Amino acid sequence: MKKTLLSGIKPTGTIHLGNYFGAMRQFVDFQNTHNSFVFIANYHALTSVSDGELLRKLSIDIAMDYLAIGLDPKKVTMFLQSDVPEVTELAWIFNTLTTVPYLMRAHAFKDSEAKNSEVNVGLFDYPILMAADILMYGADIVPVGLDQKQHVEITRDTAQKFNRIFGETFKVPEPLILENVQTVMGTDGRKMSKSYGNIIGLFASDEEIQKAVMSIPTDSKGIDEPKDPAQCKVFAFHKLLAHDELDQVRKRYVEGGIGYKESKDILVEKMKAFIKPLRERREEIAKNPDAIIKMLSDGGAEARTRAQAMMKIVREKTGLSLTN
Ligand code: TRP
Repeated sequence: MKKTLLSGIKPTGTIHLGNYFGAMRQFVDFQNTHNSFVFIANYHALTSVSDGELLRKLSIDIAMDYLAIGLDPKKVTMFLQSDVPEVTELAWIFNTLTTVPYLMRAHAFKDSEAKNSEVNVGLFDYPILMAADILMYGADIVPVGLDQKQHVEITRDTAQKFNRIFGETFKVPEPLILENVQTVMGTDGRKMSKSYGNIIGLFASDEEIQKAVMSIPTDSKGIDEPKDPAQCKVFAFHKLLAHDELDQVRKRYVEGGIGYKESKDILVEKMKAFIKPLRERREEIAKNPDAIIKMLSDGGAEARTRAQAMMKIVREKTGLSLTN
């Protein structure tokens, strides 16, 4: 029996190298070995996007992004979160088991509250909807970035709580975080994030790549001086791409003999070579949006069938349905 993998991404804009190396890539690696569900978290996106046209566009865009990185709809069930409205029902049921102080300890809530006093209830309840997403399909593993780890822990707590109260029902899932690439650095050395303006898009043009790489700050060491690769923000990207000249570049850092300009020039070439096929695939896929809509709707129907089977059990156990 294959294990079940599930993950989602909020469709909130340009996919970047941090998204790819932090989480998305894992979906491609696992599609052959796991029964995979990957969905577009458009209900979650509503907590921050209030423009219907925009949400539609972002949702289709991200489906295209997933296909471009190599997800195969024959192997992975890809769907829109909102094509399974049962998750909101399950989230409601979980809400009734969850205390307010418990959710107030969530990092995402604390962060947004610190920045903005107008936190909407949807944002506050974000982890519980996520718990419903995960538990609905009986996921064994949930590949996420490090920033989502707490949400998976909340999911585990919620599953255990429901099981304790209503009897064994939900499988308790594990997060899955790749050890060596937990957090991808942006061009300024902070975590790569759209909100910091330090991203390199996964489908960036050659000009964008050039500009982003040239903007990476370096110290003032001369060409011949030995350099510690671990301290260099440019080198961090060489390492991320793990390209064929990585060992050579590392050696030249340690021994001296490579300047930052040359290091950046090499990086630009390697990054262009890495991104180009992805970008070209993405352009090809974008020519046929109807095929994407059809794929999502097929995936949604399949996911919903599973969700309805789970909700039948949940409704029986909680007494919402009058027969059991
Ligand atoms: N919170 C995730 C993000 O910001 C998206 C998400 C929603 C998700 N539901 C999920 C991820 C369930 C994994 C599993 O990207």
